[in-house]
Amino acid sequence: MKRLLVFSCAGGAMLACALVAVSGARGDAGASNASPLYGVTIPDGYRQWELIAPALEGDPLNELRAVVGNRTAVDAYRAGTLPFPDGTVLVKLAWKHVQSPEFEPALVPGAATTVQVMVKDSRKYATTGGWGFGRFIDGKPVDEAQHQTCFACHEARVQGHDYVFTRYAR
Ligand code: HEC
Repeated sequence: MKRLLVFSCAGGAMLACALVAVSGARGDAGASNASPLYGVTIPDGYRQWELIAPALEGDPLNELRAVVGNRTAVDAYRAGTLPFPDGTVLVKLAWKHVQSPEFEPALVPGAATTVQVMVKDSRKYATTGGWGFGRFIDGKPVDEAQHQTCFACHEARVQGHDYVFTRYAR
């Protein structure tokens, strides 16, 4: 890659040279993995975080869900702290629910559908209740139009609980 870059620059193809340089820089920064509007990414290690609560969604999505939180989130939930402090991160995992092949009455997780993230930063996200949002499918953020719906729904229904639906399941 480096040789190609040197070659095209030396050959006087300045535009090609610049394009290669730009796409290289974007790939390095992983910018395409951040959600539109908010710039939220999937946090490292979230799969090891503690469970806040599971949830079940009926038709038409038919999903099993689990909300997990980082240490700041878990401490705030246990202490009943509202609003959630800056640094709180909540991740909602979701899977299609399918009938267990081994035991008919049981519904178990099938294919993963979405990973959704909420990050509390009251300054950066001052216009959306202090929360930044990200929805990801196969590790990639969905489009801007979908991200425009996040705060509207959370604000309309759970403004009194710092825009967070999930309660701690004891
Ligand atoms: C139409 C309403 C609605 C929209 C739109 C919506 N959500 Fe939610 N969200 C919910 C509900 C209800 C829950 C509670 C858990 C559940 O039912 O799965 C939830 C839960 C969450 C949670 C776990 C924390 C919590 O509040 O319980 C995250 C993270 C989340 N949503 C992110 C997003 C993101 C990101 C978007 C936009 C891409 C979004 N949501 C759009 C209704 C909505």
